[in-house]
Amino acid sequence: MSAILLAVDGPQAGEWLALLRERARGREVRLWPDHIGNASDIAYACVWLPPHGLLARFPNLKAIINLGAGVDRLLTDAALPAVPIARVAHPDLTMRMTEYVVLHVLMHHRRQRTYDAQQRERVWRVNPQPAASEVAVGIMGLGVIGLAAASAVGRLGFKVAGWSRTPRNSPGLETFHGTAGLDAFLARSEILVCLLPRTPQTEGLLNLALLRKLKRDGAAGGAFLINAARGQLQVEADILAALDEGSLAGATLDVFAEEPLPATSPLWSHPKVTITPHNAGDIAPRAFADNVIAQIERFECGLPLDNVIDRGRGY
Ligand code: NAP
Ligand code: GLV
Repeated sequence: MSAILLAVDGPQAGEWLALLRERARGREVRLWPDHIGNASDIAYACVWLPPHGLLARFPNLKAIINLGAGVDRLLTDAALPAVPIARVAHPDLTMRMTEYVVLHVLMHHRRQRTYDAQQRERVWRVNPQPAASEVAVGIMGLGVIGLAAASAVGRLGFKVAGWSRTPRNSPGLETFHGTAGLDAFLARSEILVCLLPRTPQTEGLLNLALLRKLKRDGAAGGAFLINAARGQLQVEADILAALDEGSLAGATLDVFAEEPLPATSPLWSHPKVTITPHNAGDIAPRAFADNVIAQIERFECGLPLDNVIDRGRGY
């Protein structure tokens, strides 16, 4: 018996279960938390945000398939078994994330929050509007999603640059890397888009000191932050301070250290903050279920999983 465990925290659990069972070709798919059965039967775990400690309960686990891009929930589990971990790097998710980045870059660029406020007051007023080619967008993280987002934003005409851990050479894209390249990258960026993984090196990176280094005197009329990465990268009190002192002119936040964002958070009602409920991009189960089963079948034949993460690197 080599059963698959499905442990998904969220509303997609039922859809994943139906799709994986349809495709599993005789292999059992068991659902956490109520239908795990004999723990020693579980050979594969397909997971999204599983509770810490859960995966250590399966002595015969051979591999973990993370049903999302970020693996920080897994890597912060002190009891995580030492088996390969595959993650999602798939056009369906990449395109959803790219849509989100384009939407929010354009929202800040076209001053949509100002027009929303004007509409509430029935004010008919055209505000100055720079061209995209005058505005500098900086993308933190030049991985699968960052490169796709940089390319889409570049096609709209923005001046785009990216920042990564190691040097990246991407035609047509100005690139910076490492701690040594960070200040120059920030100094030329007016709309900062964060698409980094959460690692010990990136936690708390989006703090007041960093936000003060963004370019504020450019055509965008101030500096803007879009964080669609992980909430632990941002210091929420510092974002509020940066907005209130003018280092930031606006922020879009999809992710938070505590999710759901508590109702008491001052971010909810800040006039310069746009909040979304960590919905920038989820892989659609129907787009990825075939791939999950195909990976398991290939792994059983001795072939590697797709997009295996590097635990040492943390992503
Ligand atoms: P990826 O392909 O692994 O790319 C990660 C990028 O971040 C790489 O360019 C990497 O640099 C860079 N990086 C990592 N650590 C860094 C550091 N310390 N300093 C500078 N750059 C660093 O990841 P991805 O698939 O693009 O996804 C990125 C993240 O997006 C995920 O980890 C997840 O947290 C988040 N995400 C959020 C949502 C959502 O709904 N909000 C959805 C999907 C993903 P190198 O190129 O040098 O390796
Ligand atoms: C979503 O947050 C993901 O990492 O896929």
